[in-house]
Amino acid sequence: VSIVKAELTVLKDSKKEIDSILAKYPNSRSATIPLLFLVQSVEGYVTEDGMRDVAAVLGLTPAEVLAVASFYTMLKKTPQGTYLISVCRNISCTHMGGRKVLRAFEDRLGISAGSTTADGRFSLEAAECLATCDGAPSLQINYEDFYKVSPQDAAELVDLLEKGEPVKSVAGVAVKTSKEIARETALTGTRLPTERTEAGSQMPAGGETGSAQTATGHRPPVRGGDSEKRASSNGESS
Ligand code: FES
Repeated sequence: VSIVKAELTVLKDSKKEIDSILAKYPNSRSATIPLLFLVQSVEGYVTEDGMRDVAAVLGLTPAEVLAVASFYTMLKKTPQGTYLISVCRNISCTHMGGRKVLRAFEDRLGISAGSTTADGRFSLEAAECLATCDGAPSLQINYEDFYKVSPQDAAELVDLLEKGEPVKSVAGVAVKTSKEIARETALTGTRLPTERTEAGSQMPAGGETGSAQTATGHRPPVRGGDSEKRASSNGESS
């Protein structure tokens, strides 16, 4: 029997999950963020009805829940695409062609950065530094990293996602949907480890993952200048 007594709408079929989240927190208020991710996993974003459900479960006011939801960017307050593509627009990536990559996504998807395709599959944003400058120009798809992305890679990544084919990050991690990520975050507090590809498992420890792979998992194109020197100092050949 669920300990949840409140009348719920968005989370009415999620009482088992709510119980499991509440069991982790002696102070139930601390479950606010996981429960908001649970709403996002059901609705695709944090809806007003969902925030009311969270308030009812925790004995908070909707305003208190909204105060939390509005603070965190991973909690989405408007409908989001199944895949959020975040293209870095900061200095290292811009120097390495990041704006062309962003434009390629805009052209391929037919939308501007900051919007979502009409079919709800893709959201595109220009992101601040993703802390993967050595992989410039870099981007994330649903928070998985892609390095050394070319405009051609951009179109290819969209093609693969549209066809429902697996797309793997530079670390060999398969890109998941927004709802899947929200559910994992709600129930585990973090993203679950995912099976890695052979390429991913061969990467050196310590996060040095960028030099051997491109956005689509191939060896990096040597574009001359610094890229060429970097490839050569890594003992790679084209
Ligand atoms: S400038 Fe693009 S990841 Fe840092």
